[in-house]
Amino acid sequence: MIRSVDSLKTLPAPDPAAAAHSARMLDYIRAEIAATGGAISFARFMDLALYAPGRGYYCAGTRKFGSGGDFITAPELSPLFSRCLARQCQEILDALGGGVILELGAGTGIMAADLLQELRTLDVLPERYAILELSGELRERQRQTLVERIPDLLERVVWLDALPEPGFRGIVLGNEVLDALPIERFRITAQGPRRLVVVWTDTGLACIEGEEDSSVTAVVAQIEAEIGGRLPEGYTSEYVPRLAEWLAAIVEPLAAGALLFIDYGYPRRAYYHPERAAGTVLCHYRHRVHDDPLMLPGLQDITASVDFTAVADAALAAGLNVAGYTTQNYFLFGCGLMELLAEEIPSNPANSARYLEQARQVKLLTLPGEMGDRFQAIALTRNLEMPLRGFAFRDDRGRL
Ligand SMILES: C[S@@+](CC[C@H](N)C(=O)[O-])C[C@H]1O[C@@H](n2cnc3c(N)ncnc32)[C@H](O)[C@@H]1O
Repeated sequence: MIRSVDSLKTLPAPDPAAAAHSARMLDYIRAEIAATGGAISFARFMDLALYAPGRGYYCAGTRKFGSGGDFITAPELSPLFSRCLARQCQEILDALGGGVILELGAGTGIMAADLLQELRTLDVLPERYAILELSGELRERQRQTLVERIPDLLERVVWLDALPEPGFRGIVLGNEVLDALPIERFRITAQGPRRLVVVWTDTGLACIEGEEDSSVTAVVAQIEAEIGGRLPEGYTSEYVPRLAEWLAAIVEPLAAGALLFIDYGYPRRAYYHPERAAGTVLCHYRHRVHDDPLMLPGLQDITASVDFTAVADAALAAGLNVAGYTTQNYFLFGCGLMELLAEEIPSNPANSARYLEQARQVKLLTLPGEMGDRFQAIALTRNLEMPLRGFAFRDDRGRL
């Protein structure tokens, strides 16, 4: 989901039921702010706005995905995305002699459906396809998608309430999941770095500078050391405070295999670049993109770009290898995207509608300046020593 930022004035007004839902969400957040002494961290605000049971954006009944929702992701855009991913999975499952696939944050379930279908065609189905999904509402939607598309493979799919049992071998997949992890925001002031906290004011929610905080000071000092310079006064940005903890918990039971994350983001030097002085927070609401996360709580998605250097650091700390890092277009090319498209060329030009549609999808997935290079793929491995085809065309690990 990538597009230019819209003016807040152009956002469509929510219908009365949606407005009432958002008002209830606002009351809920306001009550928590009052109960915790007048301020909550931005990470807590984001957690509530996205995942509060029955109320948060991902946990209530709004449409979210696709043309009638708020945004479209690569697997929703084209089955070719998941078919390419399946080819990377095939290579890894072959090397492991089989295994499990665990998908984190499966959205509508479309990637699971297309991936399993392709793995069946390739004759390399995983023993089990496990889904770890925070949202009960989305779990139900994923089940419906799989019932409609691959009913005969449904028995292989399980929804986990906790991480898999220790000793599992296989693949962990996450498309556009890292960008949904709650972030802390900070601003550089004349007195030093300050965490931004969310408070309630006469005019509603506001993000203000909090007290000095040693964890924020330490994170900023580390960023400045790594980018080789001071962030200027006024510079506002963010980081995922629980990234290392989250990743370590996911990989703890992994005996051998690979994790593949695809998301929009940058290596650290580019992430904390002077041109990104207002940070990378983006909100998606009915195919409009803006940068005010406090608006319409419960009705809009809130995301931040991924600092892939932080992901690599967290991986190394969890005992993983960083096995590859590249842009989405090179990853898909390495997985055989153009060969898959070539298979669609019709023998009779009169039947070219399907081919032309797939060629359009390939363009959207790979165009530089859009999904092609704003999205990146990173592979993290444990006890799996092999070159991965998705990184064969280009491997940018040196930029991390
Ligand atoms: C932007 S959507 C992407 C959905 C899907 N992967 C796709 O590409 O269409 C983010 C998904 O991640 C889920 N999610 C966010 N944080 C999660 C976490 N910590 N564990 C599991 N799922 C999570 C959300 O509920 C949602 O399904």
